[in-house]
Amino acid sequence: MPKLLTKTLGFSESPTLLGNQRVTERRARGETVYHMGFGESPFPVPPRLQKALAAQVQQKKYLNTAGLAALRQSILQYYAPRYGIDPADYDVIISPGSKLLIFAVQMAYEGDLVMVVPSWVSYVPQAQLLGQKAIKVPAVLDDNGYHLDAGLLRKAIHDARVQGLNPSKIILNTPNNPAGLCIPEAELVEIAKVCAAEDIVIIADDIYAQVCFKGAHYSIAQYAPAHTVISSAVSKHLSLGGWRLGFGLVPKAMEGLFESLCQIASETWSAVASPIQYAALEAFAGHEDIENHIRDCTVIHEFMNNYMAQRLKCMGVICPVPQGAFYVYPDFAPFKEGCARLGIHTSDNLFMYLFENYNIASLPGICFGEAPERLTLRLSGCDYDGGEVLNAYRAGRALQEEFITEYAPHIKAGCDSLDRFIGTIRT
Ligand SMILES: Cc1ncc(COP(=O)(O)O)c(C=O)c1O
Repeated sequence: MPKLLTKTLGFSESPTLLGNQRVTERRARGETVYHMGFGESPFPVPPRLQKALAAQVQQKKYLNTAGLAALRQSILQYYAPRYGIDPADYDVIISPGSKLLIFAVQMAYEGDLVMVVPSWVSYVPQAQLLGQKAIKVPAVLDDNGYHLDAGLLRKAIHDARVQGLNPSKIILNTPNNPAGLCIPEAELVEIAKVCAAEDIVIIADDIYAQVCFKGAHYSIAQYAPAHTVISSAVSKHLSLGGWRLGFGLVPKAMEGLFESLCQIASETWSAVASPIQYAALEAFAGHEDIENHIRDCTVIHEFMNNYMAQRLKCMGVICPVPQGAFYVYPDFAPFKEGCARLGIHTSDNLFMYLFENYNIASLPGICFGEAPERLTLRLSGCDYDGGEVLNAYRAGRALQEEFITEYAPHIKAGCDSLDRFIGTIRT
């Protein structure tokens, strides 16, 4: 038999989905697992969108490859003021989730990917599937954000060219998965200048833009408009990952890209499910109930993830306070020796040890491009009943420690479990 490409590349299934499957299996056996491993926002479908989808159940025709014209238009009108862009300068393409949109943009341009470490798990495997290389540039994480030094970026691009690589694109994700941190605006401006000067395509993965905790979201599209494709979806701010509805805002100045994406789409996914596209019209009409829903969910994400960050800080773990999304990214470096005594030398070891001995599901830093020996984990603060939590919050229950105890007992117990683990390795 011919060789399988995924085997040659050493792939396993995406670690996020695989981890989720393992948790499901353990829970099915009646075992307790504190599920901090999967970034799925737990809130219910807003009633308006439930109704809209039910009303569109008869839609059965293939839609245009680029997507429903009215939906593309409303997405543009909705995001233009939020991203500070002129709608006249953009085309929109609807995709089955933003994951495939990002893949299609990576496919559309020849050349290699500049990958900021740590970054989301799928960027590099996608580049590899396309026969492209990843050029790593480290970010610095702290309570002020996710920092990518523009000088370091320029040097990485130049060094890669000297080595015969062809850096042609970068993916920037802010607020960011895995750290829940934002790139500060002033730094985005400098990164944008480097990318424009070096003719690097930017994929602005702005999927968490509406899950920002403090202040506005800044898209790099504002600062490098002729080089930036914006990618987003309904998966995060509306908790609709299973709807598989993503979209790309493609600047007309990126000549030929929109046509190229439509060609790729027409040969692969054809068009996104018609009922979903019609129903999604209601998500971008600016309805007050939808906007309030997004705001309430974001307040709850902030509360849950802040709680985890504060608990981890109290244990002595390095953990920047999240600024958006629904993750924290603790670094267990202060406990390196204690971990080594238990045979934990890599983030993968740490992840397995916590899963087997402390019922904690997480994701190891190595999945996000980190060196194996960096003892980082991504924890997601989503293991609670979203409907119940949203109702309690709307009924006026204060977001205090008692709220966690009552409505998010797995998050509390997961943190207690981590605390016990730290107790065993503290010198
Ligand atoms: C940073 C980031 N980008 C993109 C995606 C893709 O999401 P979707 O394909 O549901 O739009 C995810 C999902 O977890 C993500 O965390």
